Order: sequence, then structure tokens, then C-alpha cells
Amino acid sequence: MPVRVRTTGPDATAAVGMALAALLRPGDVVVLGGPLGAGKTRFVQGVAAGLGVPGRVTSPTFVLVRRHAGRLPLVHVDAYRLDDAAALVTLDDDVLADDVVTCVEWGGNVAAALPADRLDVQLTVDGDVADAPRRCTLTPHGPTWAARRGPLATALGDVAGTVDGVTLLPDGPDGPDGPDGSDSASGPAAERGPATGAGT
Ligand SMILES: Nc1ncnc2c1ncn2[C@@H]1O[C@H](COP(=O)(O)OP(=O)(O)OP(=O)(O)O)[C@@H](O)[C@H]1O
Ligand SMILES: [Mg+2]
Repeated sequence: MPVRVRTTGPDATAAVGMALAALLRPGDVVVLGGPLGAGKTRFVQGVAAGLGVPGRVTSPTFVLVRRHAGRLPLVHVDAYRLDDAAALVTLDDDVLADDVVTCVEWGGNVAAALPADRLDVQLTVDGDVADAPRRCTLTPHGPTWAARRGPLATALGDVAGTVDGVTLLPDGPDGPDGPDGSDSASGPAAERGPATGAGT
């Protein structure tokens, strides 16, 4: 069963990623999904901060993969341009390695290459303006993440209690979790052009 939070503002989304980081172990894989501009990179920036990665983490939009040193090494992949799942693992030896945390944006593009044991993080935009609130649905898959579902819910509850703009949403497939309860995948329509440097 997923754990869901609502975030108003990029800092709130990053705070959720930061809280997740405390639960991460070597070999973990976090798969980010959601439409263009949903906040996937912002979430990973929070994970990076939580792992103690120094400096600014930017989107690997063009390099596709970047490794950062931290409490655990963070490997940040942008699979937007990958259409062949096998290409994920040939990008770099560090991708999905046992001794790093791998975060994959646009993981749906390479689903066949992703391990069964992983955390999926789906970001949706609740509205049609760029700064509309985001809904983050964190779904554990596989034994190690199933075992961490409780700690994850506790950690995100703590963030909701301490960080402005983070709300823990009730359990359940279709709970009253948004202003209209909708699950719109639409959002700020941004074209991710080939050379415009979309992403942050
Ligand atoms: N609640 C929010 N959570 C996250 N980002 C938000 C929020 N509100 C506004 N934003 C803004 O949305 C923009 C897009 O965020 P980000 O680059 O993380 O998205 P993305 O999903 O990685 O995009 P892409 O599809 O290009 O990879 C950023 O400018 C971010 O600050
Ligand atoms: Mg991004």
C-alpha cells in the first residue's frame, strides 16, 4: 500500500525526499514518475541533501547519469531519452550498483530493467498552474521496501508535522486526498525540447 503526501512548494517536495533519504541503504533503487515538471528532480535534490551530498544537484537531462558523493553515493539518472530498457544499465557501471542509491527519473521508460525491489515515487500536479500542489505517492515494491513501509509512513508523518507545506494523506486507494480528489496527471504543460535545458 502506498504512502501519500501532498506538498505545496518545491521546498516541501524536497523535504519529503530528504526524509526518505534517512531510510536509504546501499543498493536501493528509487524510481520517479510523473509528468514534465512534476518535481522529480526537486525530490531527488531532497534525497541528495538527506544523503549529505554537498553542492547543487542538477537534472542529468543531457548527461543522463550523474554520480554524487554522500553518506551513500547517489546515482541520479534521467531516463527521459531512453526508450530501450537495456540502455539503462549500459549508461554507467554505477547505475543500479549494490553500493549506491540509484534514483531514476522517467523510470517508466526503462521499467523492464528495474529491480522488483524498489520504491516507486509518482508525482502528480493538482492543478494547471506551475506552482500547483504536488501529490507524491510512494509505493514500496519487494521485500526490503515492504518492510520499510511502516518506517516510511512514520518518517513522512514526522515531516508533515514539522515542515510547512507537507501533508500526510490518508491511506486508501481513493481517499479524499486533494481539493477535488482527482488524480490528474496533467500539469504545467512544458515542452521538454531537445536543447533547451528543461529541468533544474
Ligand atoms: N510543490 C512543488 N513540488 C515540486 N516542484 C514544484 C512545486 N511547485 C513548483 N515546483 C516547481 O516545478 C518545477 C519543475 O520541477 P522539477 O524540475 O523537479 O520537475 P521534473 O519532474 O524533474 O521535470 P522533468 O520532467 O523536466 O524532469 C521547478 O521549478 C519546481 O520548483
Ligand atoms: Mg527532472
